[in-house]
Amino acid sequence: MARRKKIYEGKAKILYEGPEPGTIVQYFKDDATAFNAEKKDVIDGKGVLNNRLSEFFMTGLNTIGVPTHFIRRLNMREQLVRACEIVPLEVIVRNFAAGTMSKRLGIDEGTQLPRPIVEYCYKDDSLGDPLVTEEHIAAFGWASQQDMDDILSLALRVNDYLSGLMYGVGIRLVDFKIEVGRVYDGDFQRLVVADEISPDSCRLWDIESGQKLDKDVFRRDLGSLTDAYSEVARRLGVMPKMT
Ligand code: C5P
Repeated sequence: MARRKKIYEGKAKILYEGPEPGTIVQYFKDDATAFNAEKKDVIDGKGVLNNRLSEFFMTGLNTIGVPTHFIRRLNMREQLVRACEIVPLEVIVRNFAAGTMSKRLGIDEGTQLPRPIVEYCYKDDSLGDPLVTEEHIAAFGWASQQDMDDILSLALRVNDYLSGLMYGVGIRLVDFKIEVGRVYDGDFQRLVVADEISPDSCRLWDIESGQKLDKDVFRRDLGSLTDAYSEVARRLGVMPKMT
């Protein structure tokens, strides 16, 4: 079999050239990193779970008319996605205080926010993805005003969709991060949800017990990460075979 061309290797995924122009194969690794890769481990089966869960969320978003880069899952660890130009921002939506927001503003974790709060971080590992304002984004030309309007709308639609979906299975969506990409249809540019949506990029708490079912289990050494992600998959009716 011909060797595929690797385009990029990140902390949790590898991107390969896809079979048709304009497509990419996204491979989910088992590697887990936190605190800008200061903490690292390999968690058996994490890639399989995230591939399946991201497929589930992205398919749902496509179905309700929120555009994503997702085309189809190829196998246990790979999915076919549309090639897009990633906007260099991490878009974070928060419903409850947690993580860096709690630390930065001294708000207890779990405090309900008066409304969803959207934050932007500049995607640069060497800088630790610093928080930026729309002033920085406009001044440095990372996204246009039209892009920012579209990004906000995408982020809030993803928030409504995911919050409702999770509520239905007894899970609180505390916060999450998405990435956004530009795709071109001829001269026409569209923004789509890109990268992945998985328990690596969300905070998910059991509504009854408060138990964490997301990457904080790894960040804070709270137990088995695959057990937590498998529980999310089980509740959503998404059960990958772990072989
Ligand atoms: O760490 P912080 O509280 O800013 O994270 C907010 C949300 O964004 C969390 O759900 C976290 O998992 C996600 N996130 C991410 N990738 C990053 C930073 C944050 O998925 N590089």
